[in-house]
Amino acid sequence: MEIKKIGVIGAGTMGSGIAQVAATSNYEVILHDISQDIIDRALKTINKSLTKLIEKGKIEGNKEEIMKRIITTTDLNALKEADFIIEAVFEDFEVKKAVFKEIDSMVSEDVIITTNTSSISITKLASQTKRPDKFMGMHFMNPVPLMQLVELIRGMATSDETFNTVKSLAEKMGKVPVEANDFPGFISNRILMPMINEAIYALMEGVGSVEAIDTVMKLGMNHPMGPLALADLIGLDVCLHIMEVLYEGFKDPKYRPCPLLRKMVDAGYLGRKTGKGFYDYNK
Ligand code: CAA
Repeated sequence: MEIKKIGVIGAGTMGSGIAQVAATSNYEVILHDISQDIIDRALKTINKSLTKLIEKGKIEGNKEEIMKRIITTTDLNALKEADFIIEAVFEDFEVKKAVFKEIDSMVSEDVIITTNTSSISITKLASQTKRPDKFMGMHFMNPVPLMQLVELIRGMATSDETFNTVKSLAEKMGKVPVEANDFPGFISNRILMPMINEAIYALMEGVGSVEAIDTVMKLGMNHPMGPLALADLIGLDVCLHIMEVLYEGFKDPKYRPCPLLRKMVDAGYLGRKTGKGFYDYNK
């Protein structure tokens, strides 16, 4: 089946970025969220991002035409029209399960369903559908319009045909696909999150200040941003959730979430999205 219309479920940071990149790559997009406020915010973010990228000559095309390719909806039924699905809803198994049950009974049986989950088992998510052979992980990185990587993860039943179609779509979206096996955190978060968690331990134990820790990793290791600034960008709740998935999945104490990370999440200091994390964004 030729892919023309991509259904993106969830218009948060990741979903809006995915919708933007798909529309920029000439696909029609149906962007769904249960909240009209989140959709409105997503459209504003996409507009701003496209303005920047076009101004800088990083993408070609006309902003209005790209925006016109994105249809938004709060009604999941509108995704019946889609011939490829990317799910990017809240990172919670029960929430995703409910979405997959509904979408699976709705879209044509030829349609491939993918999930942007950052760490939940693809095999477990696939088994919530009647098409585990046409289901796999398509994990984009934040900020989606700027990051080249897409991690591709097969579930136990994913067919070669599905994998090849998704790989080719990722390439058509201008991304570099890399295959990872279905283990907790895949490759990206298996390596990234323990580093961020360790940076939070270093802060908690007074090894260095927020600025010192981030500066060491930026200037000493050439990371584009320090681990604590990156945690704020990703969202501290997301970081905690991924550490919990690693800890539960491997039952190895090396993945225990740092108590300071948990405390920050309990306090509602989730990073950029709440205006406060390791840094203060309200200043
Ligand atoms: N669209 C368009 N432009 C954007 C943008 C977006 N979404 N986000 C940032 N920019 C622009 C900025 O506005 C800025 O433009 P100007 O130079 O005109 O001001 C430009 O990009 C550069 O940004 P900054 O100066 O703020 O900072 P930077 O040079 O450090 O680049 C960055 C920003 C690309 C985010 C870079 O810091 C970086 O690569 N950081 C690491 C990101 C990373 O590791 N992401 C993966 C997170 S893990 C994940 O996503 C997976 C998971 O499961 C958790």
